[in-house]
Amino acid sequence: MDVESVLVTGANRGIGLEFVKQLLRLPKPPHYVFATYRDEKSIQALEEVKKAYKQTQVVLIKMDIGKTNEIENAKKVVEEIVGDKGLNLLINNAGILKMQVFQEISEENLLRHFSTNTIGPVMVLKEMLPLLQKSAARKTSGMKVSRAAVLNVSATLGSMGARNDLVQAKLMETMGYSISKAALNMAMRVIACTVKDQGILVVNISPGWVKTDMGTSQAVLEVSESISAMMETMQRLNETHHGSFLDRNGNVIPF
Ligand SMILES: NC(=O)c1ccc[n+]([C@@H]2O[C@H](COP(=O)([O-])OP(=O)(O)OC[C@H]3O[C@@H](n4cnc5c(N)ncnc54)[C@H](OP(=O)(O)O)[C@@H]3O)[C@@H](O)[C@H]2O)c1
Repeated sequence: MDVESVLVTGANRGIGLEFVKQLLRLPKPPHYVFATYRDEKSIQALEEVKKAYKQTQVVLIKMDIGKTNEIENAKKVVEEIVGDKGLNLLINNAGILKMQVFQEISEENLLRHFSTNTIGPVMVLKEMLPLLQKSAARKTSGMKVSRAAVLNVSATLGSMGARNDLVQAKLMETMGYSISKAALNMAMRVIACTVKDQGILVVNISPGWVKTDMGTSQAVLEVSESISAMMETMQRLNETHHGSFLDRNGNVIPF
């Protein structure tokens, strides 16, 4: 995969951190990786990664995706560094899961999920759009990650069409989360239509059930396995995938 600059949200742990690590290990790593976090106390792993990989400029940025001023500030930081080249790839990864069944569901639970998992990625993309447009404008045709792209880390639990038993059982425990990921998928479909002629590829991807704080140790995939599959898939993405919802291996998941 050939990308010059990447912004990963929620990069201090779990899937986001592993994305940063695998991007830095690419045969041709990006020039810039912007890794966002919320809490200074949580960046030790990112600091270590930054020290270990000197070929790439790793820039740590404090950004809560629910805070407009922090999103605006992140854009300024990225813009100052990438200049006219713009931002190549945005990985909208940050997200939350707070289990609550319907019988106990609170408005607060539903709103928190919607705010973080749906509105957050939309607002980050809205702010970064001019930078992605700059990157897209440097190449004349086609859609691919090496031109300009947005990868939204969604979840199979946000699929209304997925019907396997595991998904059905988990849906009941994850009501707020599942609704917010379905809404994220639709939001990105709307945005995909909006930017269709701008050369910016927009894709929603499900990482599978992954061993992270969110996925728990019961999950089936190691974080390295999930991210390496998504990295493989990313390099194959083109205009036929624009606005789609895929699993980590690139298979279509029904909306
Ligand atoms: N793990 C799975 O099995 C699985 C399956 C399907 C989809 N996903 C999706 O994959 C993504 C990453 O999940 P994960 O498993 O790596 O979860 P995780 O280990 O819980 O990490 C979540 C990350 O998101 C950040 N975050 C949460 N709220 C944020 C906010 N308001 N602003 C900025 N950052 C915020 C966290 O930052 P803090 O450290 O500051 O809290 C952390 O870096 C999520 O979108 C999740 O829905 C995961």
